[in-house]
Amino acid sequence: MERKTPFKDEGLFQYPLFLLMAIAMAFILMDPFKVGPLGSHDFRPVKHNVAPYGKVMKNWPRDNRSRLGFGKLEFVNEVYGPESLEFDLNGQGPYTGLADGRIVRWMGDSVGWETFALVTPNWSEKLCANGIHSTASKQSKLEHKCGRPLGLRFHRETGNLYIADAYYGIMVVGPEGGIATPLATHVEGKPILFANDLDIHRNGSIFFTDTSKRYNRLHHFFILLEGEATGRLLRYDPPTRTTHVVLDGLAFPNGVQLSTDQTFLLFTETTNCRLMRYWLEGPMTGSVEVVADLPGFPDNVRMNDKGQFWVAIDCCRTPAQEVFSHHPWIRSIYFRLPLRMNFLARLMAMEMYTVISLFNEKGDILEVLEDQKGAVMKLVSEVKEVNGKLWIGTVAHNHIATLPYP
Ligand SMILES: *[C@@H]1O[C@H](CO)[C@@H](O)[C@H](O)[C@H]1NC(C)=O
Ligand SMILES: *[C@@H]1O[C@H](CO)[C@@H](O)[C@H](O)[C@H]1NC(C)=O
Ligand SMILES: *[C@@H]1O[C@H](CO)[C@@H](O)[C@H](O)[C@H]1NC(C)=O
Repeated sequence: MERKTPFKDEGLFQYPLFLLMAIAMAFILMDPFKVGPLGSHDFRPVKHNVAPYGKVMKNWPRDNRSRLGFGKLEFVNEVYGPESLEFDLNGQGPYTGLADGRIVRWMGDSVGWETFALVTPNWSEKLCANGIHSTASKQSKLEHKCGRPLGLRFHRETGNLYIADAYYGIMVVGPEGGIATPLATHVEGKPILFANDLDIHRNGSIFFTDTSKRYNRLHHFFILLEGEATGRLLRYDPPTRTTHVVLDGLAFPNGVQLSTDQTFLLFTETTNCRLMRYWLEGPMTGSVEVVADLPGFPDNVRMNDKGQFWVAIDCCRTPAQEVFSHHPWIRSIYFRLPLRMNFLARLMAMEMYTVISLFNEKGDILEVLEDQKGAVMKLVSEVKEVNGKLWIGTVAHNHIATLPYP
């Protein structure tokens, strides 16, 4: 009896539907009329290293009482996208960087918020001070002119404030404030595109993250969608005024925090949903390891006075996201569908809510606080524990959240 191998004899044309689909797919992939949400953007999705969703969620403790929901929103519509929160040597504060480019500080009820520092002499009230609209998308066109201070740290001896500005790089301003002085704006002869957070070593060197070599903050969404890993951990050495590459090839490196004894530092890799450790001293010097795989997308890391680490996380990962991260070609097709980007993004995401988590030096989870309904806190960027209180920043909303702790 004669056996037919269909592909050999009739070829693809026996399957008109298949052929049609292949043509449709090719059409979407090439997107000749640029109708997909990426338009003419050179979208280059790559595979990246996200731990299996099921495994992470199985071991992740839940906060059944959803305790972050009991938090209080303070300074509503007085601060705009306060990403990082810091207190000076006298305990005055918080100080925070805003979406309008200013660094402001809270001077108590009678004075209120005052402008403390600016990252560029070109800042003007007319151009940059857009109040509650500073967190709206139209400000993004002004960010490179007005600045976007993200990470803040006071030097514990000099009282100088060090700033990681997304557009102006690493800067410093004295205890009296004013216009900040740039320290690190270039590395290996090229501009730093996206400085994000920093910490100061006791020898004066500044460790900081540069989130991507390809995208600045304005286009950070593409870093997540592509899974690209061109981010770096950098170090600025004041004595020589030089900037060095410490680690390269990171996927959205974000928060940075040195340990108490400074034998290591922790940093977050937002796209890969994980907390990492880089060893500065001891037998492991120079090596990197995963401290914890997280249920969502981490931002800053801050140490409390017990030497433990608070991580702010935007939750949650979804099983769909994991498929996307392992198969870049699916993303190539998906994000070229002629639909709106926020519709596409919503389809694959769950409702976002907030998780903050406390780790010890070994990476054990000591505490998990959630706002499962996203009722109070959304898009958190940093948790700072000071004197029995958590101060919680957000990059996209106009308030600071607080919660008594422990
Ligand atoms: C929290 O909820 C989960 C699932 O609903 C349950 O398995 C767990 O025992 C609960 N934990 C506490 C402390 O109530
Ligand atoms: C200030 O604006 C001028 C004119 O647009 C520009 O040349 C200069 O580089 C700006 N300075 C800074 C620090 O951004
Ligand atoms: C400070 O210490 C770090 C970590 O050991 C080192 O990489 C850096 O070069 C030191 N900086 C200076 C100025 O000595």
